Amino acid sequence: IDELLAEGVKGKRVFVRADLNVPLAEGTITDDGRIRAVQPTIEKLAEAGARVVVASHLGRPQGAPDPAFSLAPAAARLGELLGADVAFATDTVGSSAKETVAALTDGQVAVIENLRFNAGETSKDDAERGAFADQLAELADVYVGDGFGAVHRKHASVFDLPARLPHAVGQLIATEVGVLKKLTDEVKRPYVVVLGGAKVSDKLAVIDELLGKADRLLIGGGMAYTFLYAKGYEVGISLLQKDQVDKVKEYMRRAEETGVELVLPVDVLASTDFPDLKTKAPAVFETVDADKIPADKEGLDIGPKTRELYASKIADAATVFWNGPVGVFEHPDYAGGTRAIAQALVDSSAFTVVGGGDSAAAVRTLGFDENAFGHISTGGGASLEYLEGKTLPGLAALEG
Ligand code: 3PG
Repeated sequence: IDELLAEGVKGKRVFVRADLNVPLAEGTITDDGRIRAVQPTIEKLAEAGARVVVASHLGRPQGAPDPAFSLAPAAARLGELLGADVAFATDTVGSSAKETVAALTDGQVAVIENLRFNAGETSKDDAERGAFADQLAELADVYVGDGFGAVHRKHASVFDLPARLPHAVGQLIATEVGVLKKLTDEVKRPYVVVLGGAKVSDKLAVIDELLGKADRLLIGGGMAYTFLYAKGYEVGISLLQKDQVDKVKEYMRRAEETGVELVLPVDVLASTDFPDLKTKAPAVFETVDADKIPADKEGLDIGPKTRELYASKIADAATVFWNGPVGVFEHPDYAGGTRAIAQALVDSSAFTVVGGGDSAAAVRTLGFDENAFGHISTGGGASLEYLEGKTLPGLAALEG
């Protein structure tokens, strides 16, 4: 973006592809981290006199307008953060967008409505995506890619649009990629990875890659129960992906062969009921050893012995990457494990990276200071796919 600023952007319409996909609860933003992360890029462009057109997806609407997924709350929050009036177009490439962009003066910012209200954005058909990218291209003179959380998506605004306009890499993407390089090309050891989250199927590719890279892999969250089952334990009614058991067994064997320490929970908090995340009514649970989960109960957080074990495995690390909560942290009774992991990262002198929308939101909602971590990534799937060594369409497009 510095090069672009040096060339001069005054009076130019600059399209910023951001990732404003923030969590909302009844129309209220519960974590604005992703908006704050892209703010410096928008500010720099506006200060340089650009007419800034900010675009993003939010959630997964089905290719048509859906008020539940409007970007209006995100636009309002961006205005508060910038301390400026941010115009909002109620469509993406229609008359509202065209009029809103035409009315911008130098240094002003507008947000257009959710890109995914248009089927062309996510279409698998190149021509359909291209046609939508053509419409988006009419709104701008220059493209800045800064939606790191979406760079793994081959979508019109991420992949096709930069090919149609002069383009530059935004400050957020530059920072995120710089950090991820420290986890790949230049990693300092011991390198410890904590993986949580609900589904092991989402993490298979990254585990595959990490078995050759990490020194220790600590497993938590819903995905841990497929590992425990693969080890031969009964897991009651815990989340279990039976179709992944063979794969997980193979990974456990490979970890042994390659000398990667694969660490599983030794105790869990188990309950007959999934907690009520709305009322947050006190949960009824017991702490049991990981090989003694009762048949009628499901594990919902890692237990105290596991918290201590994982903290000790993190303590002497030089690099830590953490993706995915290790329990149902949205409920206070099951937030202890995730809190303990976050605390272990804060206490260690390692370079620590938190990746993934959920874990990033967790550290903030649990009250941790963002600055206590080396880096909190705005990308969930994007950072995982980067670590898997995949080519990310949104990054490739910016290089072209
Ligand atoms: C994310 O939340 O990881 C990004 O915003 C991408 O969203 P998506 O998974 O719906 O494409």
